[in-house]
Amino acid sequence: MKSFNAITLCCLLFSFSLLFNFVAPTLLFQGFNWESCNKPGGLYNSLKNSIDDLARAGTTHVWLPPPSHSVSPQGYLPGRLYDLDASKYGNEADLKSLIRAFHQKGIKCVADIVINHRCADKKDGRGIYCIFEGGTADDRLDWGPWAICRDDTQFSDGSGNLDTGDGYGAAPDIDHLNPRVQNELIDWMNWLKSEIGFDGWRFDFVKGYAPNFTKMYVEKTIPDFVVGELWDSINYDSDGKPDYNQDGPRNELAGWVQNAGGGVVAAFDFTTKGVLQAAVEGEWWRMKDSSGRPSGMIGIMPKNAVTFVDNHDTGSTQNLWPFPADKVMLGYAYILTHPGIPSIFYDHFLEWGLKEEIVKLSLIRQRNAISESSSVNIMASDADLYVAMIDGKIMVKIGTRYDVGNLIPSNFKVATSGKDYCVWEKQG
Ligand SMILES: *[C@@H]1O[C@H](CO)[C@@H](O)[C@H](O)[C@H]1NC(C)=O
Repeated sequence: MKSFNAITLCCLLFSFSLLFNFVAPTLLFQGFNWESCNKPGGLYNSLKNSIDDLARAGTTHVWLPPPSHSVSPQGYLPGRLYDLDASKYGNEADLKSLIRAFHQKGIKCVADIVINHRCADKKDGRGIYCIFEGGTADDRLDWGPWAICRDDTQFSDGSGNLDTGDGYGAAPDIDHLNPRVQNELIDWMNWLKSEIGFDGWRFDFVKGYAPNFTKMYVEKTIPDFVVGELWDSINYDSDGKPDYNQDGPRNELAGWVQNAGGGVVAAFDFTTKGVLQAAVEGEWWRMKDSSGRPSGMIGIMPKNAVTFVDNHDTGSTQNLWPFPADKVMLGYAYILTHPGIPSIFYDHFLEWGLKEEIVKLSLIRQRNAISESSSVNIMASDADLYVAMIDGKIMVKIGTRYDVGNLIPSNFKVATSGKDYCVWEKQG
């Protein structure tokens, strides 16, 4: 009996250790670009073909485009929020089927929530577009001018409260102070969870309304993952070069996260993106701040920072703030070895032929349990050479300098390498 117990105990301990080692680091995949609304057969159906590859890469969450009826095909000018059949990405049944297929592989789905602004369905008696239609037979989300901020200068028929954030030029700004607006948005998001199957939220244009509303929407919908798009530029000097010190921009991101409740709420790390895309041009000294930490948001609040190389706005066909195209893998060598929650972009994984290189980096991250809060020891940050050790388990070198001197201890072995980067893993 005694030996049986010992064996049982051993088995138990062993399965616990497996269980704990198996908590995969969060890895986001942005499942669309600016042209995905034109995908033949629909994006939802086409993404199904990539689920196995995404699972193999260790993806834990996939970010899907705004699902509702929208005046613009990409979904960012939504109108009938409950109408998921009018989407250019596919209909409601296609979406549910895609989410089910992701869930079968253990991948959670994140909805793009566009609630700063909303487009009306019809004009009123004055000829102003201010009759909103929810997309259901009942009156859910059927709104009038009362739901629009009264200081919305372009759409001045609004009679609601003053806007609590920046105005949005292309559509009426929603009055988030109105309790009916709040409750109906919360009901809609809970419907996206319970009826459609979404697990988390990516909040669009959060500069447009006070962060405490995000906090409330998160508390009332209990998502598993949240990221807000607070898109500000980084600071540049008069030559158009980024400043070395980017405390202003990254503190703003961290402050928003705090006011939005922290916890599961993260922000896209626009600071790391901006600095990193300058660093890859031979300015690696930028990646270490004056306190020796990474210079982006991951240097101050890594648990709540979603790092990325490009997205549907900064890259894709909009190309508003693109990462140097020939150095994209250096960007992934950085974000996939560093703390923060890395996000892989559709184009790079599915269209640029970088899938296998990205998978290799991601699997090193997974094997070594590098997480959003891993510790970074930056050992070199010269113009042409960046070297860091993460959690004492892996090392990364990025930059054109080939000779890294004696920075790499002999018990670290090359795990993967590519043009101008190399990653080592500690042995034993
Ligand atoms: C959120 O902040 C605004 C000020 O920007 C305030 O008027 C409002 O009462 C707050 N709402 C909630 C739900 O905390």
